[in-house]
Amino acid sequence: MVATATAQGAARNREAGQGAARCRPDARAGARADARPGARGATRRTAFYANLRPQLYRLIESETVDPVRNPYAPGAGQRPPELAGRDRELRQFEVVLERVARGRPERSMIITGLRGVGKTVLLNSFRSLAIQRLWGTGKIEARPDQSVRRPIAAALHMAVRELAPRHRAPDRIEEFLGVLKAFAQAGPEDDAKGKARVHRWSPGIDVPAARGRADSGDLEIDLTELLSDAASVATDVGSGIALFVDEMQDVPADDVSALCAACHELSQNGGPLIVVGAGLPHLPAVLSASKSYSERLFRYARIDRLDRASADVALLAPAEREEVTFTPEALDALYAAADGYPYFVQAYAKVVWDVAPDSPITAEDIRVAAPEAESELAVGFFGSRYERATPAERDYMRAMAALGDEPVATSDVAAELGRKPSSLSPARDGLIKKGLIYSAERGLVAFTVPHFGTFLRTQTA
Ligand SMILES: Nc1ncnc2c1ncn2[C@@H]1O[C@H](COP(=O)(O)OP(=O)(O)OP(=O)(O)O)[C@@H](O)[C@H]1O
Ligand SMILES: [Mg+2]
Repeated sequence: MVATATAQGAARNREAGQGAARCRPDARAGARADARPGARGATRRTAFYANLRPQLYRLIESETVDPVRNPYAPGAGQRPPELAGRDRELRQFEVVLERVARGRPERSMIITGLRGVGKTVLLNSFRSLAIQRLWGTGKIEARPDQSVRRPIAAALHMAVRELAPRHRAPDRIEEFLGVLKAFAQAGPEDDAKGKARVHRWSPGIDVPAARGRADSGDLEIDLTELLSDAASVATDVGSGIALFVDEMQDVPADDVSALCAACHELSQNGGPLIVVGAGLPHLPAVLSASKSYSERLFRYARIDRLDRASADVALLAPAEREEVTFTPEALDALYAAADGYPYFVQAYAKVVWDVAPDSPITAEDIRVAAPEAESELAVGFFGSRYERATPAERDYMRAMAALGDEPVATSDVAAELGRKPSSLSPARDGLIKKGLIYSAERGLVAFTVPHFGTFLRTQTA
């Protein structure tokens, strides 16, 4: 069905394009028009279009590919103009919400995938679904070396504030906020010198901190108590709370363990609160290393490159809303260039749109735009990450790249560099911590960034 719509759209616009005046003529457009096989029929169609011109005027006018109306959105967490190919995950999440709301036993969801496949965007779409159902929601982005205590307190504060106006007993909300404040203040916080000191953060809550609940300083106990109190506030208003954790692989090990334990406790009590995570492909391994039962606690959804039909939808749907389309050959060329990776799809489409003089966008437009798109990716997507690595880490990645695009054995990387595997551990661990590589399975490492090997092979040392 998608293919038919695509072909029809492309054909329709090709037809219209042949009769229409070029709104932004330039040398390239001229050369391209001559090369088009349909150009010969233009004279025959002139009379036909002359009669139709008044009706087609609007269409002909909008045939220009106007940079101001460029719909594509390359960028971390940038909402795409069309969320393509994620219907299954969205449906699954709707079922989770519905089951949790009805008090049915349900596992929460964890999305995993490589950099730029759309985890953050999908997490945000999940959040929108929860908000539509009038759930309270909050979101954190985990950072290495930062306890989740304070961010979770802030996120739950937000979630409960969303529910508060519907609660019949304001003192119950105040009671919860007192517990929340106690929780936020209970953890130690490292100061600039790395010394633990008492947390002084006050989350803008007027009520006094409660005593004796969620304030033990042990995150596992405190989180379990806090989440169960938050869930009971949600139960009071006949709703639920969803806490979203992005970059979940960066949650420090002790905190992951506490978070899993709290979720486990909650799932046993059937409270309407879920923790929904997103992270790199090794996140399931991180979770099961901390609690073996985590495999039964979460439903893992690995998201990947878009298949051809979804990639076409991601390109065509936003374009057609602006009355612009792509030829089938242009779609072929874009799929070959972007390889279905959502970030690349947006990045190429954004440049191609600005380069194309008019609709339909052709394979020639893609060819002209490719160098600019590639250099933007080299700087913004690959380069910015490469810059974060130390010289030793860069050597490690270059050795990985030299060994190919599949996950590689750490022993092979060591052999490639002529070093002992143990001497390379700091570089490998540093790269994992920076989220540039991950351990696909024991003894193997792979890039978290798609096409990173290709990028590195084109770099000089
Ligand atoms: N389903 C989709 N269809 C079309 N474009 C998408 C889709 N999902 C994401 N994108 C686009 O891909 C880009 C990357 O999305 P996002 O930041 O969510 O990826 P990510 O997996 O969170 O990456 P990272 O691991 O670097 O955080 C954005 O520009 C977004 O608009
Ligand atoms: Mg992200």
